[in-house]
Amino acid sequence: MPEITPRGLTGLAFGGDYNPEQWPEAVWEEDVRLMREAGVTLVSVGIFSWALLEPAPGAHDFGWLDRSLDLLHGAGIRVDLGTPTVVPPAWFYRAHPDALPVTADGVRLEFGSRGAICHSNPAYRAAAADITTRLAERYGDHPALAMWHVHNEYGVPVSACYCDTCAARFRRWLERTYGSVEAVNEAWGTAFWGQRYASLDEINPPRATPTVGNPAQALDYRRFADATMRENFTAERDILHRLSPGVPVTTNFMTALSQCDSVDYWAWGREVDLVTNDHYLITDGRRTHVNLAMAADLTRSVAGGAPWLLLEHSTSGVNWQPRNPAKAPGQMARNSLAHVARGSEGAMFFQWRQSRRGAEKFHSAMLPHGGTETRVFREVTELGASVRSLAPVRGTRTEADVAVLWDWQSWWAQNLDWRPSQDHDARERADAFYEVLYDRHLTVDFARPEDDLSRYPLVVVPALYLMTEAAGDNLRRYVEGGGTLVVSYFSGIVDEHDAVHEGPCPGVLRDVLGLTVEEFSPLLEGERVRLTGPGGADVHADVWTEFVVPRGAETVWTYADGLAAGRPAVTRHRLGEGTAWYVSTRLGTDGLATVLARAAEDAGVPPRDDLPHDVEVVRRSGDSGRFLFAINHSAADAKVPLETPGTELLTGERAAGRLAVPAGAVRVVRLDG
Ligand code: GAL
Repeated sequence: MPEITPRGLTGLAFGGDYNPEQWPEAVWEEDVRLMREAGVTLVSVGIFSWALLEPAPGAHDFGWLDRSLDLLHGAGIRVDLGTPTVVPPAWFYRAHPDALPVTADGVRLEFGSRGAICHSNPAYRAAAADITTRLAERYGDHPALAMWHVHNEYGVPVSACYCDTCAARFRRWLERTYGSVEAVNEAWGTAFWGQRYASLDEINPPRATPTVGNPAQALDYRRFADATMRENFTAERDILHRLSPGVPVTTNFMTALSQCDSVDYWAWGREVDLVTNDHYLITDGRRTHVNLAMAADLTRSVAGGAPWLLLEHSTSGVNWQPRNPAKAPGQMARNSLAHVARGSEGAMFFQWRQSRRGAEKFHSAMLPHGGTETRVFREVTELGASVRSLAPVRGTRTEADVAVLWDWQSWWAQNLDWRPSQDHDARERADAFYEVLYDRHLTVDFARPEDDLSRYPLVVVPALYLMTEAAGDNLRRYVEGGGTLVVSYFSGIVDEHDAVHEGPCPGVLRDVLGLTVEEFSPLLEGERVRLTGPGGADVHADVWTEFVVPRGAETVWTYADGLAAGRPAVTRHRLGEGTAWYVSTRLGTDGLATVLARAAEDAGVPPRDDLPHDVEVVRRSGDSGRFLFAINHSAADAKVPLETPGTELLTGERAAGRLAVPAGAVRVVRLDG
């Protein structure tokens, strides 16, 4: 993917969503003055402003946006200009009530919030194209324009609509995908429960049914809904490319698995000029900085390893969780710079000035209700200076050590109903494996199951229920060629239509893992089993067990109790030049850490015992040099060994030997040579 950056920015981006339409124009001068004070270089404007830009059908008012953009330009602040198509005006819905989305239960959602869109609706598509065209014609070569921001977070809050217009489009999608109703019947296995269709016209979206519906139909509907949103994105993007050539077009992703599950970002990553992401800390008791690192690695991976941009995060608390703690002093900077370490070309926030009205008035901002004499504004200003001093990292790439395989479509399939256990959660496994790799100080690239993996010594598969034959072949080639693979249970089970691969499970992974699974035997709520392993060390597991039959693999850990007692729990298979590990149960952190340590040894990935716990150390490198980021999330001062001396960019001091990173602090060293 070509590396495309916001036009006219020389350093990293710093700023946020800016909604001047919420404020009297008298406030705008102060906004711009304080933005300069805080070091703001880029703002996202106009994302929700359709009703203000087109107050009545066909009657446009661009005056306020002209004045705002000119003011920003005069202050040297670049603009990421939104197409406001995530909230059509109220008058639009009055004329086109069928553009409001319908849930699977048949409820039509109302206007009065945001994102109430049926993406199949022709009137919506036409109106979105029209407002995008007018904006592109008017601002396509505005001197402040750095990039275009289409829509907002496709996939949330509505991921799919189930109305009749969507039903008709779904049928056309099926026709294009399968060619005939017979092929749909075959792929969906409609012989089961007499679901056979005589004509495509009989097929509907997977609306509410008396009991569980056809899983392959549900999976295809997710693909269809995702593709429909993507079509709307590319329609807007193509208008912008035509009328505003040379200006990058993006739409803000939400790659954190806890925040959006309806978009296949592998596919979307190919459609944007620059990958951008929004990330918010989920305060559910887990280590938020680990979740942040995972989302940042996933974002960089969907960008093909190229630099990307963090378009939104929060300066302090959000307001949409049950409890919304403020960020601790220094936490905002650690969050922002961890994104930069993992490839972001800057740090942007929602939003510049905290709203007084509307649903988000208790959400933190760069300029809080309390004004400039606040901790948040002081920290924002300090961060602005830090981001400015990191300009040299621009264009460099984050160095990764290992790969984790992830696939949104497999996740969708895995989450359908009537699985062996409702307690098995693919996302939880991805989080758990990631956390262990994070604590071993390994930087993770995410990859698709069919990608070339040969450059990674270690590849981890936390949960890939759906795998194509091609993916299975790919993993076998990877191991035969000398790779080390670690696979968690309930992977490689079904094909792209949610049909179980022929023969014993795990279908496409049998050969590479050197085993078959005779039966799944999930555990009851709260039930645990004990595993005995090398040297007599015990580990515990829960949620899942299975009856594994080795067919070439050696047993490393054995179930000591439960129905699977005496059978293999964790196995290792030498194949060609490489090794494939299989973990047939849900290990806790300690068990996983032990297995991954053994696998890392097989892979020749050395332990980083010299690095302190919870000090994140990540490197970026490229034409402008090699940079070591050290982010101390712990409450203790730490020391990080440097491979060569260098210059610390935030303080300007020379650094050599062991770099001091005070508790809660961030250090970024430009390494010599
Ligand atoms: C994002 C959204 C912003 C704002 C923010 C609050 O998902 O794009 O507009 O609502 O959340 O956290």
